[in-house]
Amino acid sequence: MSASLRAKVLANRPVGPGVYLITLKAPAIAAKARPGQFVMLRVSPGAEPLLARPFSIHGVEGESVLVLYQVVGRGTRLLAQAAEGQELVMWGPLGRGFELSGASRPVLVGGGMGIAPLAFAAQRLSEMGQETSLLYGMAGAKGFEPLMETFDARLDPEKVTLGYASEDGSIGLKGLVTALLKETLAQKPGAVLTCGPTPMLKAVATLAREHGAKCQVSLEAPMACGVGACLGCAIPAAAGGYVRACQEGPVMDAELVDWGRM
Ligand code: FES
Repeated sequence: MSASLRAKVLANRPVGPGVYLITLKAPAIAAKARPGQFVMLRVSPGAEPLLARPFSIHGVEGESVLVLYQVVGRGTRLLAQAAEGQELVMWGPLGRGFELSGASRPVLVGGGMGIAPLAFAAQRLSEMGQETSLLYGMAGAKGFEPLMETFDARLDPEKVTLGYASEDGSIGLKGLVTALLKETLAQKPGAVLTCGPTPMLKAVATLAREHGAKCQVSLEAPMACGVGACLGCAIPAAAGGYVRACQEGPVMDAELVDWGRM
């Protein structure tokens, strides 16, 4: 069961160009949250239902839930204005998260804002004693130093190996994160967990298959209701028809997705 509550804003600050990290006190959600799950946040004080938005859970710290978000429209502009001490309506955790227990020597691949659930997965896996590689692909690192500092602060360097790829060459390998994944899988094949833009997910799923690695993808789909009612989040299924990202996902086995129809 998901919980609906008023969550107090403990911090809300920019960590990259147009990207914010908000910390919300929500003990009931923090206790249950799993990497890959999401929460719905209503940022308007009134009853405008359209201003409820889904956000991937970026981490849990004690009784607080962390959400990493990009300002892309009215709802997220309002969210960026939420002040410390303000209360927001939040419900969750929702959806199906990553299966972490069966993943051996996992490699986590995040593209752009897709890093949000994977940093949480890296945190949980290291708490479980698992060593992981967290590969982050970005267009460029300029302005994202505060975000990268949060990874250094939150993730145990003994357990999590961070790797970067940037299209402009400003950090790590110059090029796409899939090149970094290819190198990593060639040295240490392991289960792949990924989230990011669809072309990247498709390329990651293909690489994983070529290396005989199991691959879980967290799908980004437009979600209006978050609870299975609106069908706005339909994803083409390999078995035919569609599945709902908010119910059967957002995390799915990559083999269950019909990538040709994505
Ligand atoms: Fe409405 Fe998935 S978001 S059915």
